[in-house]
Amino acid sequence: MTTQTALPRLTLAEAAKRALLTADATEKANVTAELAAMWRSGEISEIGETDLPDRPGRPATPELMAPRHMPKRSKSGLKGRISLLHALAHIELNAIDLAWDLAGRFTHENLPREFYDAWVQVADDEARHFKMLNKRLGELGATYGDLPAHDGLWETSMDTAYDLLARLAVVPMVFEARGLDATPPTIERLLAHGDTESARILKIIAHDEISHVAAGRKYYEMACDQRGLPYYTTWHAMLRKHFRGPLKPPFNDKARYEAGMPPDYYQDYVLELPGDEE
Ligand SMILES: [Fe+2]
Ligand SMILES: [Fe+2]
Repeated sequence: MTTQTALPRLTLAEAAKRALLTADATEKANVTAELAAMWRSGEISEIGETDLPDRPGRPATPELMAPRHMPKRSKSGLKGRISLLHALAHIELNAIDLAWDLAGRFTHENLPREFYDAWVQVADDEARHFKMLNKRLGELGATYGDLPAHDGLWETSMDTAYDLLARLAVVPMVFEARGLDATPPTIERLLAHGDTESARILKIIAHDEISHVAAGRKYYEMACDQRGLPYYTTWHAMLRKHFRGPLKPPFNDKARYEAGMPPDYYQDYVLELPGDEE
């Protein structure tokens, strides 16, 4: 009988770090799918704890720019569609990292196992979304990295690295919820231009994103309950502190409602009122 020294098993926190540090975009998506499968099968079972990087690994291209320096996106013809799909692929790549960061950054807190299930599933979904969009870009003669991309999503998100409640309030409940609003009109535009394949991909994404907003809302409310905070006004306070922009209508009330995010959250939100001390 041979004795084998068992290798220390990868923890979920280390898995998150591994995915975050992977620089190549397609490899990040593939590594994410593998790690998510390992979590689901129980091959990764311990949550663990580790330091996560302040910046994820990213490929040499696209060139990352501050949002205000981004060149105006072409809106018409094939160029316009490529630039739209490229921007969406970039959002999905960021979303992979943001999901892993949520899964791995707050492991010192006493969170239920379902919390980790949820964010590993989100990371896995985002990886699939990235690959679908990049494949579509390839069919249109382009690839992720061809155009510049902005770095605003990651930077704003990292402002909330200090607090799970703030992170959930901003990333899934503002950024991902805005995706719910923006996607249906984009699908309509693509269909109007006869691009049924890109529209089909966006429909899949729009459907999946409802569950991401739902997970964010669920654990945001859990964090509020634990701290004895009211949901709506606390969310408003977090937005004023970390998002600092208005919430722009039109809202996709139906998709938001399906995600458990009623208009009570967003309809009365005002960025700033004189003397407002909510
Ligand atoms: Fe996504
Ligand atoms: Fe998402």
